[in-house]
Amino acid sequence: MRPVIIAANRKMNTPPADAGELAATIAARTEEPGVVRVICPPYVCLFAVRDALQGRGVAVGAQNVHGELAGAYTGEISAPMLKDLATWVIIGHSERRRDQKETDEMVGKKLARAIDAGLRPIVCVGEQLEERESGRAVEVVAKQLHGALAGKDAETLLAGGFVIAYEPVWAIGTGRNASGHDAAAMADAIRSTLEANLSWGEAAERVPVLYGGSVTSANIGEFLGEPSIDGALVGGASLKPDEMAGIVARAAVTARAREAVASGEPA
Ligand code: PGA
Repeated sequence: MRPVIIAANRKMNTPPADAGELAATIAARTEEPGVVRVICPPYVCLFAVRDALQGRGVAVGAQNVHGELAGAYTGEISAPMLKDLATWVIIGHSERRRDQKETDEMVGKKLARAIDAGLRPIVCVGEQLEERESGRAVEVVAKQLHGALAGKDAETLLAGGFVIAYEPVWAIGTGRNASGHDAAAMADAIRSTLEANLSWGEAAERVPVLYGGSVTSANIGEFLGEPSIDGALVGGASLKPDEMAGIVARAAVTARAREAVASGEPA
């Protein structure tokens, strides 16, 4: 049974003075059994958010990590530096691919560092609008997966808590979300790519795939109604406690349904 995960990507929002209080409020408003909750604030808020979430059952994630362990990389943060502050990390977000020119190879290096440091990685993949419109979405995402994952051992990644977020670039921050059906088709394509092209075999079925891109409390049900989607990476809505309460409440419904199926209870 795959877990149901709701991860909040705060992006470059919330100053350190407010970050802990917002995290504590969201933790209190989203106390639902069975849902894995993660809050990913900016680096400078990690201390505050870690302290605010102590004992609340919500994990802390970073939004990025460097691909080297230490050295002359001004402004960068390495995986070992994050260890006491975060247990998760977002890697290869499309905004970093766009603004910091992160390549699939860099994403692969960051992933290796995260796993070595014991950080649970959320690796983001997704196509541009023109790639979807020209029918190349699956090909583009498969190439991203190849670039980041080739040569890596599936069981090692899964043991390290590896998660994939499918985030179509045209849906991020635009208010225009993918349909649940299209997102599920891409989650299936992602697992097929892992299974066949990257030789994961049955291990591909065990990787959680999240959807990200304009997720709200109003549309989360469309994604979580799809058995191949295991949760969401939430950007804009993650800054609003009411939105997060609604999103996690809906995620708990899916978590309970999966529990019931796994334990053989009638759904
Ligand atoms: P959004 O961002 O929910 O604001 O579209 C999602 C993301 O970038 O992870």
